[in-house]
Amino acid sequence: MAIVADPAPPRTRILSGIQPSGRLHLGNYFGAIRQHLELQATSDCFYFIANYHALTTVKEPAALRRNTLDVAATYLALGLDPDRTVFFRQSDVPEVCELTWLLMTVTGMGLLERAHSYKDKIARGIKPSVGLFAYPVLMASDILAYRPRLVPVGKDQEQHVEMAQDMAASFHHAFGTEVFVRPEPRFTETARVPGTDWERGPDGSFLRDERGRRVPQKMSKSYGNTLEIFAEGRALKRAVGRIPTDSVALENPIDPDDCLVFQLCALFLEPDEQAELRARYRAGGFGYGRAKEVLLAQFDRVFGPYRERKQALDRDPDTLEDILRAGGARARAVARATLNDARRACGID
Ligand code: ADP
Ligand code: TRP
Repeated sequence: MAIVADPAPPRTRILSGIQPSGRLHLGNYFGAIRQHLELQATSDCFYFIANYHALTTVKEPAALRRNTLDVAATYLALGLDPDRTVFFRQSDVPEVCELTWLLMTVTGMGLLERAHSYKDKIARGIKPSVGLFAYPVLMASDILAYRPRLVPVGKDQEQHVEMAQDMAASFHHAFGTEVFVRPEPRFTETARVPGTDWERGPDGSFLRDERGRRVPQKMSKSYGNTLEIFAEGRALKRAVGRIPTDSVALENPIDPDDCLVFQLCALFLEPDEQAELRARYRAGGFGYGRAKEVLLAQFDRVFGPYRERKQALDRDPDTLEDILRAGGARARAVARATLNDARRACGID
C-alpha cells in the first residue's frame, strides 16, 4: 500500500492593496507593509498596487507611473518574494472594473454616503467625483475577486472592508447564489502612526486629549506630514529636523507623551527600549536634538540594510515591469474565475 504523506493544511488566502499616491512612509510601513511581509511566511498572499484608486487623487500620468514603480521597488527591496506572493498592479486585472459594476447594482447609496473617508475628504473641501464616491465599491471588488479570508489593513480601512462584507451579502441575497467569500479585516498592533505635526482645531489651536497633551495628526501622504521609508542622508536629516518640538531649557525634563519625536521613535523600539528612552526624557538634560539623533539612528538600523537593493531596483524599471506583469497574469486568472461565477449568478453569461 502506498504511503501518502499528510497533505499540508491549506494556507489562508490574504489580500491587500496600497495606493501609489506618493512615496511610502512610516505610516504605511508600521500600519501595513511590515505585516504584509511577515504574512508571506504563513499565508497565500495577494498584494497589489491600487492605481485605479489613486486616480481619484493623482491627475498626473507621469507621477502615477513613477509612484507605481516606486511602490513596487519599496515592497521588493523590503523583502516581498514575487515567487511566493502574487504581487501585481490593479489595472492589469481589468476584470475588477466589471465586477465593480455588478456590485454597484446591489449597493445602496446610503451605504456609500456613510463612508468616513469620503465624508472626511468632503469636509476638507475636496470636490467629489463619482469615482471618489464609488471608491469603496472598487475596493470591495478588489477584495471579493480574489476570495481572500483576511484583509490586513490599518484601522482606517476597517469600514471599507465591512462595506465589502455588506456588498457580498447583498449580492448573494439579490441573486440567491454564494459567489464570494466573506473577508475579515486584520489589524496591526500599530493602529495609527503619528505624523510630523499635531492636529489643530478649526480656530488653529492644538487639539488636546483629556490629560492636556497635544494629539498627533495621522501620518498621511495627503497631509504632507510623512517621513519616507527610504529617505536617507541629508534629506532624512532635514525631514527629522523639521519635526516641531517645544523650546525647553536643556536641563529640564520633557514629557515623552507630548513629544512627536518620542512617539515616532517608539514605533521602532521594543518595550524595554521605550521605557529606557522615557526615563532619559524625564531625567532632564536630554533635549530634543538628542531625541532626533535617536530617531535617525533607528531609521538607519531598520531601513539602512535595504537601501542599496531599493536603489538597484529604481535603476531597473524593466525588471519591475516584468515582475508586475507576471503577478498580474496570475491574479487575473483568479479574478476571471470569480467574475465568471458572478456573471452567471446575475444572468449575464
Ligand atoms: P495615505 O494616508 O498616506 O494615503 P494609504 O491610505 O495609501 O496612506 O494607506 C496604505 C496603507 O497604510 C493602509 O493599509 C493604511 O491603513 C496604512 N496606513 C497609512 N497611514 C497610516 C498611519 N498613519 N497609521 C497606520 N496605518 C497607516
Ligand atoms: N483603500 C486602501 C487604502 O487607501 C487601498 C486599497 C484598495 C485596498 N483596494 C484595496 C486595501 C483592497 C485592501 C484591500 O489604503
